[in-house]
Amino acid sequence: MQTHPFLNKGHFLLGTFSTNCSGGMTVSKLEDRWTADWQSNLTLARMLDDAGIDFMLPIARWIGYGGETNFHGYVLETITWATALLAHTRQITIFGTVHTTANHPVVVAKQLATMDQMSGSRVGLNIVAGWNKPEYEALGLTLPDDHETRYGYAQEWYDIIKKLWTHEGRFDWNGKYFQLKNTHSDPKPAMLPPIFNAAGSGLGREFASRNANFLFTPAIDLERSKTEVAELKAQARDQGREVGVLTFSHVICRPNQADADARWQELLDNADWEAVDNLVRLQFAHAQSFPHDLLAMIRERMAAGHGGFPLVGTPERVADGICALHEAGFSGTTLSFFDYAKEFPYFRDTVLPILEARGIRPPVTAKAMENPLIA
Ligand SMILES: Cc1cc2nc3c(=O)[nH]c(=O)nc-3n(C[C@H](O)[C@H](O)[C@H](O)COP(=O)(O)O)c2cc1C
Repeated sequence: MQTHPFLNKGHFLLGTFSTNCSGGMTVSKLEDRWTADWQSNLTLARMLDDAGIDFMLPIARWIGYGGETNFHGYVLETITWATALLAHTRQITIFGTVHTTANHPVVVAKQLATMDQMSGSRVGLNIVAGWNKPEYEALGLTLPDDHETRYGYAQEWYDIIKKLWTHEGRFDWNGKYFQLKNTHSDPKPAMLPPIFNAAGSGLGREFASRNANFLFTPAIDLERSKTEVAELKAQARDQGREVGVLTFSHVICRPNQADADARWQELLDNADWEAVDNLVRLQFAHAQSFPHDLLAMIRERMAAGHGGFPLVGTPERVADGICALHEAGFSGTTLSFFDYAKEFPYFRDTVLPILEARGIRPPVTAKAMENPLIA
């Protein structure tokens, strides 16, 4: 099978994250916060597509985080969301995010193969092995306490999908978690879709280095990140694989620094702190993604951008931040904005040309649309 072109782009990847979830990445009480409705996602996706942005990554979320706003309480389901967006775009890659335990592998294999065919191989898969215990309870599922079971199950789940995508004819599967008789899947994807995984634990990262093309990790302190990224890549190379490391960033880009800083403060002043604390508590109880010794800093970053690396300032400063991520060894970052559709055009028009001039992004070849939100 041909290698997917998403794996050979050769530039610093940019995507968006969490546009399908209410609030996006900002846990805010401000009235004009991101609604995540279909029309906003569609408007944004068309702008991203025209501007040459590489991908959109949704969050699979089944219950919100409570607080006054129930952050992430309104969520578009990721496979249907991605399918519809693929039908409305031309070049961007769109990921489905899938919880292994909530989605049968035979069903997922066929969903992705269908999306691959209808989109000309622009679909990707973000695999989530699970961490959010109340959410599992809401689905009537039990989150295994130990990571051995979480990732053992995820491995078997993905092995089945890969076999369905590559094996001609029927087969039986007799595993620890799945027994399948005479199973098969057609059509097959024309190419293996790019795989994302965002494990934080040791076992999770072993899973990612065996299976994913890109692994996500938070960028909290870039000195730490340099070592971490190098170690993750080395871990994958030990298994004969090349894995890129991505992170996620939150953007507040304004013509002058003082306005951008004031906006960051405004987000903190209007944060839904009860929801922030629920988010932090759940992350620290069941997941190992964020370093536990940096709690105070992380709490503020959780409020403003769900723990994303802050890109706050003038276009020049935002571009500096992205270049610093590149220098730390990251292969790319997601971007989030308080209002993605309103704020992306300024980023596109001011930051993308700087990244192009600095040689880490290609020129925007497609016609960048005017912002359809402004009459
Ligand atoms: C970029 C990114 C995307 C993620 N997407 C989801 C998601 O959509 N749904 C979800 O339940 N968890 C999501 N996670 C959580 C991770 O998949 C993983 O379960 C968590 O980091 C715990 O890792 P661990 O199992 O190794 O402790 C995401 C994390 C990151 C950093």
